[in-house]
Amino acid sequence: MIEEIIKKFASDGETEQPSPWKRQPIIAGNWKMNKTNTEAEALLKELLPLVEDVKDRAVVVCPPATALTLAVKKVGPSANIGVGAQNVHWEESGAYTGELAAAMLKDIGVTYVIVGHSERREYFGDTDETVNKRAKAAVSAGIIPIICVGESLETREANAYKEFVSTQVKKAFDGMGALSAAKCVVAYEPIWAIGTGKTATFEQAQEVCEMIRATLAGLYDAEVADAIRILYGGSVKPDTIDGLMEKPDVDGALVGGASLKAQDFSRIVKFGQKKPEKAKVEKAEKKEISKTD
Ligand code: 13P
Repeated sequence: MIEEIIKKFASDGETEQPSPWKRQPIIAGNWKMNKTNTEAEALLKELLPLVEDVKDRAVVVCPPATALTLAVKKVGPSANIGVGAQNVHWEESGAYTGELAAAMLKDIGVTYVIVGHSERREYFGDTDETVNKRAKAAVSAGIIPIICVGESLETREANAYKEFVSTQVKKAFDGMGALSAAKCVVAYEPIWAIGTGKTATFEQAQEVCEMIRATLAGLYDAEVADAIRILYGGSVKPDTIDGLMEKPDVDGALVGGASLKAQDFSRIVKFGQKKPEKAKVEKAEKKEISKTD
C-alpha cells in the first residue's frame, strides 16, 4: 500500500517526497477574510524570501479568493510552497452564485483547499455532509483538502470531544477510497482555541490527533492512517510551535492570526530550529566548558 501511496503523490506532481518516506510536515497559513491585493502582495514580498529555502516541510498560504492568482504568481513553481483556497464547491459548474469549483481553483494553480473550517460550519451552514462533498470534489480535481474538525468549549467541558471529533472525521471521509484519503490533510482545530490566544496544551493536541489517526486506521488501515498529515490549529504562535511539533501525531499547523505577520509565520515555518542568538550562546558556552576541561 505504501508504494501505491508514494506513486500517487508522485503522479500528482509531488515528486519531492522524503526518502525513506515519512509524513512531511505542513505549515499552512489561513489568512481568512484579510488582505487586499496590495496588502497581500506586501505580505508575500516580505514572507517568501524568509521561507523559500525551507526543506523537508511544506508551506501553504491560503489568501482570500481575490488574491489567489496573485499568490500563485508570486510563489512561482516552488516545490515546497503551495497556495490554498479557503473553500470549494462540490459541483463542477452551474447556477451556484458566489461559489468556486475545484477545477477553477486547479486551473489557476491552487494546490490545497481548506474545507469545513469551523467558521464556515458556524456562519455559512457547512455540515458534515457538505464537508464530505467538498473534500471529495477537491481530491477528484487533484487538490489536497485540509479538512477541519474540532469541538466547541461546551462539548469539551461535557467530555464528549473525542466522540464528536471522531464522528466528524468518519463523516468527512465517508465514501472516499484509501488512496484519495492518504492525500488528504486533517486539521484539528478546537473552536475554543481559535483566535482566543488559548492554545490547547501540547498533550491535548496530541491526544486528539492520535485519536484522529486511530479513527482513520479504523476506516482504512494503519498504513493509510500513517500517511495522512494531521495538523493542529488554534492560536499557534512562534513560541508554541516547537512543543507542538515534538508530539508524534502532530504533523504541522494551520495558523490564523500569526500567518498575517511575515516574521511570526516564518518563525513558525522554521520550527525546530534554534533562534540564532540562542544557538550562538550555547556554542559559546560549549567552548567555555571545553576550555576548562
Ligand atoms: P488563530 O491562529 O488565529 O487562532 O486561527 C486558527 C484558525 O482558525 C486557522 O484556520
